[in-house]
Amino acid sequence: MQQLSISFSCWTIILLVAAVATATDVFPEDLNDDCIIDISHPIKNFIPSVDSTINPEEIIKVHLGTITVTSTFNFSSHLGTNVAAPSYIFKNLRQTVTVDSLKVSTLIGPVLVVQTPNNSNITENVLRSLSIPREVKRVIFKTQNTDGQLMDKRDYTGFTADGAKYLVDYTDIKFVGIDYMSVARKDEIAAVHQILLDPNKGIIPVGNLKLDQVNPGFYSMNCLPLRILTAAAPVRCILVKN
Ligand SMILES: *[C@@H]1O[C@H](CO)[C@@H](O)[C@H](O)[C@H]1NC(C)=O
Ligand SMILES: *[C@@H]1O[C@H](CO)[C@@H](O)[C@H](O)[C@H]1NC(C)=O
Ligand SMILES: *[C@@H]1O[C@H](CO)[C@@H](O)[C@H](O)[C@H]1NC(C)=O
Repeated sequence: MQQLSISFSCWTIILLVAAVATATDVFPEDLNDDCIIDISHPIKNFIPSVDSTINPEEIIKVHLGTITVTSTFNFSSHLGTNVAAPSYIFKNLRQTVTVDSLKVSTLIGPVLVVQTPNNSNITENVLRSLSIPREVKRVIFKTQNTDGQLMDKRDYTGFTADGAKYLVDYTDIKFVGIDYMSVARKDEIAAVHQILLDPNKGIIPVGNLKLDQVNPGFYSMNCLPLRILTAAAPVRCILVKN
């Protein structure tokens, strides 16, 4: 077998050419850990959560068995970095459009990280100024919530309803990531969620991303929740540098 490899800085593709030249198998080599940025918050005490009544410190119980350690968790489905499904805002869809129905192909793939301007929520004008190319399907919005450490503050940057409407009507974005507990600015929570979570649009919002180590640019992303039949679920999101 002939072996040929093509290297980028983080990805190496190995081409295995069968001696008889009837088949060519292409597969990527293992990734170097330095190429991966974990953008999920570790679940620990006092992690910010939209459901502030749930304090994981009080409810994570560790059972010390004789041989193994098992834990029981009782926490909000919005704990930590989390994904929301249409049933989060459309209560009539509670049984049907849950996290399990979200398209996995939207949660994995190329993603563009953009830095939004300081002193503004994510409005239609901000989105226009970012000039996100039309074909881009996944965007992570790094806002002043990260640099200004606003993750657990009441005053933060989020989407306005006109920003959400612009995103739905004039972009191809299906994955919306943000560095706050909610994608929506605080006085438009319902409106923004109704626009972004319209079950016919297939848009998936992920909140509470940890972006302090992330520079704007293109990455490959994996952002998968557990297969839970609820309206939200914690996710493990990673970026892979190109
Ligand atoms: C889980 O936590 C909630 C909120 O603190 C509490 O109301 C509920 O009783 C807990 N459930 C169990 C099974 O401990
Ligand atoms: C974003 O909107 C909220 C109102 O929901 C406001 O309190 C806040 O100051 C705005 N943030 C910025 C950076 O303009
Ligand atoms: C935005 O604000 C953060 C702190 O809140 C600061 O670190 C950063 O330099 C500001 N960026 C610009 C472009 O002014």
